[in-house]
Amino acid sequence: RKKSEVSAMILERNNFFSLKQIETEARQFGLQDQFADFSRLLHLYELRQAGANEIGTKLENLDDDYAMTYDYNPIHHIEERTKSIHSLVEKMRRKDYEFSIENVEDHIFDIAGIRVVTNYIDDVYEIERSLVSQTDVTLVERKDYIAQPKPSGYRSLHIVVSVPVFQARGTYQVPVEVQIRSVGMDMWASLEHRLRYKTDMDPAEVEKHAQALVADAEELNQIELRMQGISKQLRETKGKNRS
Ligand code: GTP
Ligand code: MG
Repeated sequence: RKKSEVSAMILERNNFFSLKQIETEARQFGLQDQFADFSRLLHLYELRQAGANEIGTKLENLDDDYAMTYDYNPIHHIEERTKSIHSLVEKMRRKDYEFSIENVEDHIFDIAGIRVVTNYIDDVYEIERSLVSQTDVTLVERKDYIAQPKPSGYRSLHIVVSVPVFQARGTYQVPVEVQIRSVGMDMWASLEHRLRYKTDMDPAEVEKHAQALVADAEELNQIELRMQGISKQLRETKGKNRS
């Protein structure tokens, strides 16, 4: 891939909510009545999205540089998403927090989230290392569900990083959730998510599939490790054995 194609293709930002949409949704939930200063909620969304943009750009730059330096792209693609007000309210309820700006600021780190889908499993940790080692990026939280998969079979590396965002009124340290996973893990998680949340299927049938998916996750992991080995070998032998 040419560099220009890479930067055009890799990051899909089109799921981003506009602040206008957030405001409309927040009004539907009656949140404007709960806040003395409703604009603070919008500002929080603006900040978090700006933080995700900073991280997104860093990841794109990294992928370009890996291509340049090693002739190899660790990143398959990147997705950015903003949490809807609906799932924000639902999460605050689930976690038993009273709905206040301070509580959202202090406890909800995934208002803006980035998902990095890598080509292979080792790339997950390579991307993490290259991101977290940047001097303006701070690791806030880390859950390695690849080393310790969830009982469902779910695998992914979840980190929260904080990054400075420079704004008209000053500099803010902003948390961004980054989920990093391989193509196989992503494929698995997408299907399992649909099975879990988006189905009119008979519960017994769902349970049967969920059981099978636990084994599938393990098998996919084995397959990805094996394919990663081939890919590595190909890279190591590149340019050799030519007459
Ligand atoms: P929440 O963020 O409130 O869910 O709590 P948490 O931070 O304790 O949860 P976790 O670290 O498990 O990350 C939650 C996110 O990971 C979810 O929004 C999903 O995107 C993903 N996730 C976690 N577990 C599963 C799973 O079993 N299946 C799938 N498909 N996705 C999962
Ligand atoms: Mg979370």
